[in-house]
Amino acid sequence: MKYGYFDDAKREYIITDPKTPVKWINYIGTLAFGGFVDHTGGALICKADPALNRITKYISQMPASDFKGETLYLRRHTSGEYCVFSPFFVPCLAPYERYECHVGLGYTRIVSTIQGIESDVTIFVPRGSAREVRLVKVTNRSDQAVKLDAVPVVEYTHFDALKQLTNADWVPQTMQSQVHNLEDGRILLLQYAFMRRDTGINYFTASLPASSYDTDRKKFLGENEYGTWANPLSLQKAELSNSVAQRGDNIAALLAPMGVLQPGESCELVTQLGQEASLELALADIERFNRPQQCRQAMAELASFWDSYLEKQQVETPDAALNSMLNIHNPRQCYTTLNWSRYLSLYQLGYGSRGIGFRDSAQDVMGVLAAAPADAKALLVKLLSVQKPDGSAMHQFNPLSMIAEVGDSAERDDRPHYYSDDHLWGVLAVCAYIKETGDMDFLNKEIQYYSKSEPKSGTVLDHLCRAVGFTRQDSGQHGLPRLGFADWNDTINLATGAESLLSACLYGQALRELIDLCGLIGEPDKAEQFAVWYDEMSAQVARHAWDGDWYISYIDADGALLGSHHNAAGQIYAYGQAWPVIAGFASEAKARQALDSVYRMLNTRCGIKLSAPGFQGFDPSKGGITTYPPGAKENGGIFLHVNPWVIIAETLAGGGERAYAYYLQINPANKNDLMEEYECEPYVYPQNILADEHPQFGLARNSWLSGTATWMYQAGTQYILGIRPTYRGLLVDPCIPAAWDGFKAQRSARGAKYFIEVRNPQHVNKGVAAVEVDGKPLDGNLIPYFVDGAQHQIVVTMGE
Ligand code: GLC
Repeated sequence: MKYGYFDDAKREYIITDPKTPVKWINYIGTLAFGGFVDHTGGALICKADPALNRITKYISQMPASDFKGETLYLRRHTSGEYCVFSPFFVPCLAPYERYECHVGLGYTRIVSTIQGIESDVTIFVPRGSAREVRLVKVTNRSDQAVKLDAVPVVEYTHFDALKQLTNADWVPQTMQSQVHNLEDGRILLLQYAFMRRDTGINYFTASLPASSYDTDRKKFLGENEYGTWANPLSLQKAELSNSVAQRGDNIAALLAPMGVLQPGESCELVTQLGQEASLELALADIERFNRPQQCRQAMAELASFWDSYLEKQQVETPDAALNSMLNIHNPRQCYTTLNWSRYLSLYQLGYGSRGIGFRDSAQDVMGVLAAAPADAKALLVKLLSVQKPDGSAMHQFNPLSMIAEVGDSAERDDRPHYYSDDHLWGVLAVCAYIKETGDMDFLNKEIQYYSKSEPKSGTVLDHLCRAVGFTRQDSGQHGLPRLGFADWNDTINLATGAESLLSACLYGQALRELIDLCGLIGEPDKAEQFAVWYDEMSAQVARHAWDGDWYISYIDADGALLGSHHNAAGQIYAYGQAWPVIAGFASEAKARQALDSVYRMLNTRCGIKLSAPGFQGFDPSKGGITTYPPGAKENGGIFLHVNPWVIIAETLAGGGERAYAYYLQINPANKNDLMEEYECEPYVYPQNILADEHPQFGLARNSWLSGTATWMYQAGTQYILGIRPTYRGLLVDPCIPAAWDGFKAQRSARGAKYFIEVRNPQHVNKGVAAVEVDGKPLDGNLIPYFVDGAQHQIVVTMGE
């Protein structure tokens, strides 16, 4: 079963059947203003804070056919009545002759033909602007003249998104609308919660004159809301009722007559939805996007943003689905996670003021370094400023207020109030940023600590040293780092005193990065000290964490092992095998053995499971992992985030065939024909897929906002294709399927542009026999950073 197809030349995925198994969404704008649009035109729009400044009411749990946030109705005048439908299919569900939803980069375009009326609607947020624009073009494709009206509608939410759902007394008493007449018969509808009247006003307007309007949902739907969104009773009357809501469920509906369209004739309409502090500020900018031509210009600017974002790295391999992901969809998803972290999606609903996670954003940063280094740096500064003086980090924070919290750990007095991994991701992210940009000055930048006591601040380097210092002094009985409330796996919540192998490996990898960095910046004492710490941890891992065929993952406070062949459930964890390899703790033999165990025990045709076998029932002594049935999420599900770690480890161990097979089996583009089982968008990675212990094996959920995006991008570009920034140069060290003759890539780094051609005449998986830079042979495979703004031709020949 298929719901659409990829159009790589246009950088779009085109949905041709609106009845997808779940809504397929796309992101527009940025966290500063924007949100997501579903493929039937519904939209969840926020300004800066999805929890506390939400604009449209989009309740994702309601049935797919429901009105969600926004829509457009068209009505055709026929003798004696009106024929009403939505060009977005939802909420009227009228039969269509044609339906296409173009999921583009930063825009969604819905093209449909219903009853001979073609609509072409482009939905986007212009770059640098705080408004959602919908550019609508309606064309009469029938052979008779038709008289048409357009009725765009928005449903507002209270700005406090959770309050909207929990309080039906206060919320409706605060909601108010106003009407403001613009030139030429156009109308601007204003909406606010009373307390925001002078600070935050939502507005909605259309470029055509409006003959009437409604702002009260009750009036628009009619008969005390026994009229429905599918059939609003007001649309059967000549005009809307011009309701000006002083309470209740506020909407913005405008009736814009399009007049009589002759066969072949078109009419265009632009709508704008935004929020400003005052009417004056709203008015100031409306005329800038009022005309279709202005919107097309803004669309061109959006396209050029994406041109420059994507051109930093483009690849051409024998695998079309891999090219499509690495060139378009995966970097776009990385930009999305950078912006929205885990804040706002169809699945992560952004209620409350939880904010964004330290570990999540630190990893997200690593996926955009070449394309958006300034955004990455800005987020790194925020992250480091919620690190505590002891080196550990606050688990989550609101990026606007910068108020940080300890996360779920707050619920248990008898447990640690930190996570043993958060701060270590910060080290990896900063080092990756420096490798990409060479911005050594950043290390000297003074950044505050999250504390009122001393030290109040320190340099970035100081932050990094304190991070590894924290883990160093926080080891348990076996010398491994103590598990915090959890480590990366949020759902392993063991009694205080447990130890975590993953934290040991993250610590090891952070130390390796710092050893190298300190060597480079003339801090040999630090480099030496970190080398001693690294060796110590390496020895502890070798002594306590090997289980015979693979690595164990935890030792609980009583000394019992988790992730051991002795366990009935949770015998083996995938990240517990990948990370000792990535951190360099595993010998060659153990690396191979551990990775072979992953293949044997955790691999399925839909991806690698996080762990196996699943726990069969709730066990509070293990924590969150046992809240899921076996095969779901962290309890033995295919948790995609860990797949790229295994892929990276395989490439480090030379496993080019398996790394690629693992890549292939979770590439969403390859699921396009498997939608009866998979269900989610084929153009982004989901967070999880149900595994083979679950009756719905293969079902994906929680698409878009997952660390899978950054790590699959890193795994694909830096480890399979092997183009990897280091402090000293661009390493080219591919680990590819032997069948490939080679591949090409373009990569910008530190101002220069590298055209890289990799040849694989001997059909090996790994190994570089010769490198030529601009026609001259190079010793080794570390391409120097030229920093000359010029183009360079690199030819890499793989071989023994
Ligand atoms: C979710 C969380 C992430 C965590 C992962 C594994 O993706 O956002 O922070 O590491 O689950 O539990």
